[in-house]
Amino acid sequence: MIEKDIERVFFSEEELQKRICQLGEQITADYEDKNPLIVGVLKGSFVFMADLTRRINTYCEVDFMAVSSYGNGTSTTGAVSIRKDLSYDVEGRHVIIIEDILDSGVTLSYLKSYIENRRPASIKICTLLDKPARRRANITPDYVGFICPDAFIVGYGLDYAERYRNLPYIGVLKPEIYA
Ligand code: PRP
Repeated sequence: MIEKDIERVFFSEEELQKRICQLGEQITADYEDKNPLIVGVLKGSFVFMADLTRRINTYCEVDFMAVSSYGNGTSTTGAVSIRKDLSYDVEGRHVIIIEDILDSGVTLSYLKSYIENRRPASIKICTLLDKPARRRANITPDYVGFICPDAFIVGYGLDYAERYRNLPYIGVLKPEIYA
């Protein structure tokens, strides 16, 4: 059982679903008749993306990008590379980038300017978790699920060395696991 590696639950399934429902309602109201393109950043966002999009009650399309900046470590290297590009032409589209976590901001500031260069009609950022204390890049999200303290959290898409993404809640990993 993977729960044995978790020190404590940080955001329960119920808390996550309640907040995601509110975010979905907000996005629905803001994007009615705009047919937004919702872009999930793999891999971390896949669980949030699946739950959030099911709470958006207006026409929308989905796409994914995959980027890499962390490798298997716990802090960013500062270098972002694109492993999977968009499948659609985003010129003139209303784009919403979906992230599981905004930490240093290096990934999203790179992605935002990358997509901006393709001349979308608008571009907004929705992140489930925001860790403003660790910000290095000048980036502000438009939709935030929760402000998150600087603890080592996993679950609900977030990994440590590719594991724990399948936990249905967000928890703090026991320090002996990553020591
Ligand atoms: C995580 C997360 C964001 C990024 C945020 O991805 O999903 O993309 O780090 O960090 P930053 O704000 O410091 O750039 P990661 O590179 O760990 O890949 P993953 O989504 O595949 O887990």
